Amino acid sequence: MSALTRRKTIEASVALEGAHRLKQTLSWPHLIAIGVGAIVGTGIYTLTGVGAGLAGPAVVISFLICGAICACAAFCYAEMATLIPVAGSAYTYSYAVLGEGLAWIVGWSLVLEYTVAAAAVAVGWGGHVESLITAAGWGVPPELMHGVFSGGLINIPAILIAGVVTLLLILGTRESATLNIFLVLIKLAALVLFVVLAMQSFDAANFTPFAPFGYGATQGADGKNYGVLGAAAIVFFAFYGFDTVSTAAEETKNPERNLTIGIVGSMALCTAIYVVVATVAVGAMSYTQFSKTHDAAPLVFILQSLSHGTAAEIVAACVVIAIPSVILVLMYGQSRIFFVMARDGLLPERLAAVSKSRGTPVLMTMLTGLVVIAMAATMDLSQIVELANVGTLTAFIAVAASMLVLRMRDPSRPRLFRTPLPWVVGPVCILGCLYLAWSLPTRTQIWFFEWNGAGLVLYFLYGMRASHLARAKP
Ligand code: ALA
Repeated sequence: MSALTRRKTIEASVALEGAHRLKQTLSWPHLIAIGVGAIVGTGIYTLTGVGAGLAGPAVVISFLICGAICACAAFCYAEMATLIPVAGSAYTYSYAVLGEGLAWIVGWSLVLEYTVAAAAVAVGWGGHVESLITAAGWGVPPELMHGVFSGGLINIPAILIAGVVTLLLILGTRESATLNIFLVLIKLAALVLFVVLAMQSFDAANFTPFAPFGYGATQGADGKNYGVLGAAAIVFFAFYGFDTVSTAAEETKNPERNLTIGIVGSMALCTAIYVVVATVAVGAMSYTQFSKTHDAAPLVFILQSLSHGTAAEIVAACVVIAIPSVILVLMYGQSRIFFVMARDGLLPERLAAVSKSRGTPVLMTMLTGLVVIAMAATMDLSQIVELANVGTLTAFIAVAASMLVLRMRDPSRPRLFRTPLPWVVGPVCILGCLYLAWSLPTRTQIWFFEWNGAGLVLYFLYGMRASHLARAKP
């Protein structure tokens, strides 16, 4: 077997050395909170307006399309996560099924999903803080609120929030997960407040014309892809995150039951919430009004315009308080992916050490935190959302492919969770994700290939030889 196609057996993935085993502390409420904490974030609070601008009221359909594709992915994740209930998510499944070369590409792409997205959310959080500071009338130099690639110098709020989240993760999983539940509740309360108040102004006339830009993805003069599918490729960012639950598999009590509830439950809950929020948003006000504004907070803008000023401030404050939970779970996921890649020898193993007192990979968490801080301090939000999307789509494709390949290669292996209609669900996930990736701007696709080109150079220089499989370790 060549280096690129050698596989780590499922048995070897599950049977881990004691010293490198993470503590099992999580149950399904923690997992649903981790999932919802990762899913509901800057996407629904900001991309609802962007999506409506691209698709009109039919953005509701865009949300449904993404929900359907992500639900298919959630089933594949649930099957693979219960078969291989250890940390590492799509990377671990790919290593056991598709071989080391593809697993490396998936692991390297997951950096885009977790680290790049965490940085993006930190920047989005900084934007909300800036608007609150401005509303309060405090003068703060804008150069200190935006990164050097975003028209400023350095993004201080984004650095602060990424630093605080890193410290929370180092303190340990349970503490972080419990705090996360509290933040998730605040975030959901803000959406409920929005729905209850905005619904009072619901007018069916706002749904006409329903799909002013059609149902496909047609490039406009500004380079954006208009139409229901064009909007779907963007609002996809609002959906992913449920797979973060699978990265916690190794730390989950009774994984077969709790993981299934955690992954499928958080996905279904969020899809329902998004469709309701998007329907109420486009029903309460013509999309032309809130999607054309430069306001980064369309839900807050709608409430303000409907004379719910106090509620708008409450929602904005809730967002500022609760959005860090998204950064928390994304960084949690990233540190675990790096941890497992290092444990497999594909990254330097010293980085994988688990702290005896905390039971968490402290060094790896710090490294992830530093990368997120560096990106959040300098980069621009809009460009990195699309880059994060392409990394996530790659992971979803790999997980669906792993599920299907393993069904063929090892059909009789006992499965604690079986994807329903696997030969429909798996291909729908793969083709849906391929289409969304194809719909992203060419620039993003080029960045993705450059990122993975650099990753492969690193693999050939280091991981291919240092891999435990190469050195015949279990
Ligand atoms: N789905 C997450 C968000 O919308 C990444 O912020």
